[in-house]
Amino acid sequence: MRSLIDINELSREEIEGLIDTAEDIIDNPAKYSDKCRGKKIATLFFEPSTRTRLSFEAAMYELGGNVLGFSEAASSSASKGESIADTVKVVSCYADIIAMRHPKEGAPLVASFNASVPIINAGDGGHNHPTQTLADLCTIRREKGKISGLTVGFCGDLKFGRTVHSLISALSRYENVKIVLISPDELKLPSYVKKDVLKAKGIEYVQTTDLSSVIGELDILYMTRVQRERFFSEEEYLRLKDSYILTEDKLTGAKKDLCILHPLPRVNEISVKIDDDPRACYFKQALYGKYMRMALIMKLLGVE
Ligand code: CP
Repeated sequence: MRSLIDINELSREEIEGLIDTAEDIIDNPAKYSDKCRGKKIATLFFEPSTRTRLSFEAAMYELGGNVLGFSEAASSSASKGESIADTVKVVSCYADIIAMRHPKEGAPLVASFNASVPIINAGDGGHNHPTQTLADLCTIRREKGKISGLTVGFCGDLKFGRTVHSLISALSRYENVKIVLISPDELKLPSYVKKDVLKAKGIEYVQTTDLSSVIGELDILYMTRVQRERFFSEEEYLRLKDSYILTEDKLTGAKKDLCILHPLPRVNEISVKIDDDPRACYFKQALYGKYMRMALIMKLLGVE
């Protein structure tokens, strides 16, 4: 039995295989409509979500399976003090696979030690979000035809942004990827990611606070939200929240085939006027997330 807690648990070949499957689902949805007939996914969300929870649920429905779960800790027995270990031991009796989001880093890993069904990490605190990374990689490959050799800029909250940490880790396994880190000093990429991933893998990277000075070099611009829920001080959040707002003006110096990604939700960091620009790929990215989750559910359930 296999879970997915960290994107590094999937080899590059497995990731490419999942993208191939997602593309086949897009082209031939009827072929997959019964693949998980009789199976159930439990979505255990201890933290708010729109895309991840609903796309897991849509994914299971589109595979012919069923869904159960909760969308907030307050409506589960966690609110009475039940542990993660006990929760997943019990839910393993009701479902074939579990997708879990939790504000505490490591909670899905603890769940995987105690469950008797596969656990998928649907985001744990500021740590990891591997299925978002699968959505990101699928979008990059579909838009650019490749992942190797691209210059990828990450902009905004690189400190708490779990989607950033997971995607940098995945990209570090591709050849000639260059990383451009754009953030205020207070929200820089954690040094453990720089040391353990970028430096350890010899990935070329630069850090800057100025988006305009680097936007022209980028093939991919990965915008992120400054996450109010990760700050200890409201004052600090208010000071930093509008550090970067991508506007039509800022795109003047960008490549004509730039691909703009954002894991969403967006608050203020991309002007809605950019949504109709062909370079805006973030809603496609959310759609591809559903197909990648379908591919992943089948893989972890051992469905051919
Ligand atoms: N990208 C993402 O994780 O969105 P949700 O928080 O809405 O699930």
